[in-house]
Amino acid sequence: MTTYITTPIYYVNALPHLGHAYTTIVADTYSRFRRLCGDRVRFQTGTDEHGEKIAQAAEAEGVSPRAYADRISDAFRQTWPLLAVEPDHFIRTTDPGHIRTVQDILAKVHAAGDIYFSEYTGLYCQGCERFLTEKELVDGNCPDHQKPPKEISEQNYFFRMSRYQQWLIDHIKANPDFITPERYRNEVLSFLSEPLEDLCISRPTSRLTWGIPLPFDDKFVTYVWFDALINYLTGIGYPDGPDFQEYWASAEHVIAKDILKPHAIYWPTMLKAMGLQPYRRLHVHGYWNVDETKMSKSIGNVVRPGELVAACGTDTVRYFVLREMSFGLDASFSGTAIVERQNSDLANDLGNLFSRALTMLAKYAGGTVPAPDEAAMTAEDRQLTADLLEMVSIYRREMDQFNFSRALQEIWKVIGQLNRFIVVNAPWELAKDPALAGRLRTVLSLLAEALRLIALVLRPVMPEAAARMARALGLAEEMAAATLERDGVWGLLRPGAALGEIPQLFPRIDKKSQPAAPTTTTVKKEAKPASAPPAPMPAPAEHDGVITFDQFGKVELRVGRVTAAEKVAKSDRLLKLTVEAPEARTIVAGIARYYQPEEVVGRLVLIVANLKPAKLMGVTSQGMVLAAKEKDAAGNERLVLATVAGEIAPGSRVA
Ligand code: MSP
Repeated sequence: MTTYITTPIYYVNALPHLGHAYTTIVADTYSRFRRLCGDRVRFQTGTDEHGEKIAQAAEAEGVSPRAYADRISDAFRQTWPLLAVEPDHFIRTTDPGHIRTVQDILAKVHAAGDIYFSEYTGLYCQGCERFLTEKELVDGNCPDHQKPPKEISEQNYFFRMSRYQQWLIDHIKANPDFITPERYRNEVLSFLSEPLEDLCISRPTSRLTWGIPLPFDDKFVTYVWFDALINYLTGIGYPDGPDFQEYWASAEHVIAKDILKPHAIYWPTMLKAMGLQPYRRLHVHGYWNVDETKMSKSIGNVVRPGELVAACGTDTVRYFVLREMSFGLDASFSGTAIVERQNSDLANDLGNLFSRALTMLAKYAGGTVPAPDEAAMTAEDRQLTADLLEMVSIYRREMDQFNFSRALQEIWKVIGQLNRFIVVNAPWELAKDPALAGRLRTVLSLLAEALRLIALVLRPVMPEAAARMARALGLAEEMAAATLERDGVWGLLRPGAALGEIPQLFPRIDKKSQPAAPTTTTVKKEAKPASAPPAPMPAPAEHDGVITFDQFGKVELRVGRVTAAEKVAKSDRLLKLTVEAPEARTIVAGIARYYQPEEVVGRLVLIVANLKPAKLMGVTSQGMVLAAKEKDAAGNERLVLATVAGEIAPGSRVA
């Protein structure tokens, strides 16, 4: 089987926040889940870079749309590893291959007679980048952006979407899981019960140049949605690439409810006009609010993924969002809720089960897998075993239906049963009586096997913790290649096999140090660059010759985790960073023109740890952050922070 899973491609007019992180964690979890089911998987995310919104945001910053898009696209790309999100492909709508294919598709659909030229007057919402119907307005405003749309009247090209309306209705009715959960399917069908208008797919270059030129009329560029939706095809090599042939039939898109209409109506009809089969499923989730309030730049309550990871760790963030949101409904984030989940579900329930069971295996079974004694097995043991296998099968069904929260609740139900099993069977008591050695081995072997199954099913959700669990069970290699089919059965641990070291899975978080109140998220207009003070970036080395190993050895390079960042007052170049390496220190870095403070929090950076402290704009800098610098043909400087290629403990020495 194959699976092709995608996220929306995100607009580059805002930095990544909790909403983007959620969709992308969902897609990553599903991608890992399907791999665990033995599928070949392609997982794609990326950035949507054309259109009015982006052109205006770039103008407001006084940079070219391309330079602006490069910077924010990079911020998205750099955020995903912090969340253990591992896409196979990151697409940008400014990729030359994407642009070429969009033009080929437009030419084909035009030649087939499905694109025509006409005059149109409509109500345009720039936030949505689409025309709204009167019916969609609430008190004259766009319900998503709380602003009245602008009346626009102009000549444009149109896609004959209406031609495919009946086909789409029939397709949705014949395929109950085409749009899920059901409420969104019903919403689309209700919308389709009224006549569908044709879709305006161009913008005159007199109004907008930041887009893909129409191949048949260069006085127009392509409408951003027509360009963006096609990313799902270009990203897997449409039309000739082998991946396209292999994966398209299994395409599944994850989106939030804000972009239902383009995905449920524009996109399938576009595919039909191109002569392609529609995607397999569209999964629509609700919105994240913060403390019951809409997340917004103006309120200043936008939650940044990097800040969350720095405070709670990658796996906790993934677990929290998947457990807390019922897929399809809105959910509310709060610092207290995430700390509560970490302390109770992760540190207490899972962490304690794990460390207690492994400590007893070390103490009473010599750190190896004990052989169960069939004669000492009770009816309760058999029931618990059956419950564990039942959990694996419910988990499989719920994950497939995107009911992540329910799948996790099933796992936590058996975690609760196992914790009670320990208390009831009290292995420390059994160990006191040699006559009960068989029973002790049976109890411990059941626990070890249960932990193996729990690590297996948790892999898609918490890849790092699951890997630590697997290592502790002596299964690092087996687990990496495991499938639910082969490994989701009872009794695979080999008696006598050695167990590994016992890790601490999840530390408890002190309630006082819960994630700080979110900081504002705007991609702010920065002050004009001035002749700035020297920044603690690496100065160009004076390469008048080679250096000795000893000379190099004097430079103490370490990996550090940025846990806080803020602008240095009165400087447009400096950011004051708190870097843990592993002790927290302050480093002032000349990166403010290239990075917003929120963009760097949570990142692993490379630092010179033994540099003599220096005062910069009144702040003492205890080290230097490394970055690479380049100049483009126009002489514009670009700077990118240096980092390591994988997760590693802050403080690790670089040599
Ligand atoms: N560029 C278009 C999508 C084109 S796809 C062919 C776009 N971009 S966006 O940056 O606005 O991203 C919207 C998506 O971000 C939502 O559909 C959802 O996946 C995610 N979210 C943004 N804010 C969100 C919340 N507050 N809550 C949950 N997800 C949200 O639309």
